[in-house]
Amino acid sequence: MRKPIIAGNWKMYKTWDEAIQFVEEVADKIPSNDKVDAVICATALYLPTLVQMQAESDLAFGAQNMHYENEGAFTGEVSPTQLESVGVDYVVLGHSERREYYNETDEAINKKVAAALAHNIVPIICCGETLEEREAGTTEQKVAGQIKAALAGFDAEQVAHMVIAYEPIWAIGTGKTATADDANQVCGAIRAVIAELYSAETAEAVRIQYGGSVKPENIEELLTKEHIDGALVGGASLEPASYLKLLEAA
Ligand code: G3P
Repeated sequence: MRKPIIAGNWKMYKTWDEAIQFVEEVADKIPSNDKVDAVICATALYLPTLVQMQAESDLAFGAQNMHYENEGAFTGEVSPTQLESVGVDYVVLGHSERREYYNETDEAINKKVAAALAHNIVPIICCGETLEEREAGTTEQKVAGQIKAALAGFDAEQVAHMVIAYEPIWAIGTGKTATADDANQVCGAIRAVIAELYSAETAEAVRIQYGGSVKPENIEELLTKEHIDGALVGGASLEPASYLKLLEAA
């Protein structure tokens, strides 16, 4: 059985006071991580303090991006070494907003996945299609290409510990969720790609999240689906009550 993972992606939201208030409010209500992995991906600026505040709790933290080099003259970037040094457990890689606005390529994402693993950070690897691609019937092809590129060069043992997030771009922040069956079908196709590249056992081990307008009202149905192991959540992770409901559902 795969353990569900609910990751809030706060994107570029929340002041410091708001972030602290959120964490204080949810702190003693996080379900045990025997049952669900609860993660918040906040701006790198807040991560060291949030990690320290929650050292004893089951709430884990992630970054929303990172560079693949350990150090160097890369003004404005955050390195995997730096994230590891402050105790960050996860990193979102290849989010569609990074691919679109910051020209992140599959090749760079592949290097970032390698860097994350080298620093004991679990990568949450994002993939997903545009509305045009969905309408053209090329969703599975697009997602398979992104996943194959991201996983190039890793062995089955490494892949088994990764998290993949299927986020159809047209469903992000739009209020339009893929139907649970459609989301499950694409998550199943991702699992099939992993089975083909590695083995059925590896494919069964990898956790695949759905992301795109997930909220307390639709999470339960999504989680009943065979291939959906959790969610990567934007808007609905910003309010403590709704984040906690997502965790409870999982
Ligand atoms: O990474 C999560 C995200 O892109 C989905 O955002 O606001 O549609 O839940 P949202």
